Amino acid sequence: MQVIAHRGASEEVPEHTLAAYKQALVEGAEGLECDVRLTSDGVLVCVHDRKIDRTSNGHGPVSVLELAELRELDFGSWKDSWADFEDPEEPDHDRASVLTLERLLELVVDSGRTVELLIETKHPTRYAGLVERRLVQTLDRYGLAHPRLGSSTPIKVMSFSQLSLRRMRQLAPSVRTVLLMDRVPVRFRDGSLPTGVSAAGPRIDILRVHPHYVDRVHAQGHQVHAWTVNQLSDIDLCAGLEVEAIITDRPKRALARLAELAS
Ligand code: G3P
Ligand code: CA
Repeated sequence: MQVIAHRGASEEVPEHTLAAYKQALVEGAEGLECDVRLTSDGVLVCVHDRKIDRTSNGHGPVSVLELAELRELDFGSWKDSWADFEDPEEPDHDRASVLTLERLLELVVDSGRTVELLIETKHPTRYAGLVERRLVQTLDRYGLAHPRLGSSTPIKVMSFSQLSLRRMRQLAPSVRTVLLMDRVPVRFRDGSLPTGVSAAGPRIDILRVHPHYVDRVHAQGHQVHAWTVNQLSDIDLCAGLEVEAIITDRPKRALARLAELAS
């Protein structure tokens, strides 16, 4: 079972910062998860909420701010107290700056090992299909949207929006997609998924109540990527059900638990 770091090693380090992703790689995560949103000047940045208020010292929706404005803000202090810094005069930029998708792709490409990047497109947004077009353009700069014949891409695109995944399939058919689910839509309760989607992404509560859903998805030839799997009992549940990937805020702890289960 793959361990994917949700927003980086986000329990320990401010979510969606470069430092959170570096920490996840140090801890041995096999994949990284991020959310992407478009700025008003058309740059994809890794931010979960529609507004930046919770995770920065700024205000307002990402979609009305330019990248240069986001770069002026602190995306780390909401989580870190000053006591956590050795020298508060010199804040750690990796831990406090807005992260662009491009910078995260560089980290993945330069990591020296195979690391999957699971990119979640957030909808609804005022930019609608422009998100997927920009995403594919950005991935293409790194050769990650249209891999050469015989090779594959470490990118997966996830969304709660079936339309977003359909757009991705049209723009970059080699990129695998994951349909995220807060609840399983009635028409997919038999384990089927929309055309071209390769994995179901159920919230962990679904598997607690309906563990047999995993068998149904597998029987249809698809994978299961569960989120957000932080508790040991949930890790055990997913391992027992042979879920292919868990998305967790605590990659180190999840990997340690899996090592225990294997020994
Ligand atoms: O990995 C899927 C999960 O991230 C979806 O929920 O709210 O954390 O983006 P959220
Ligand atoms: Ca997400």
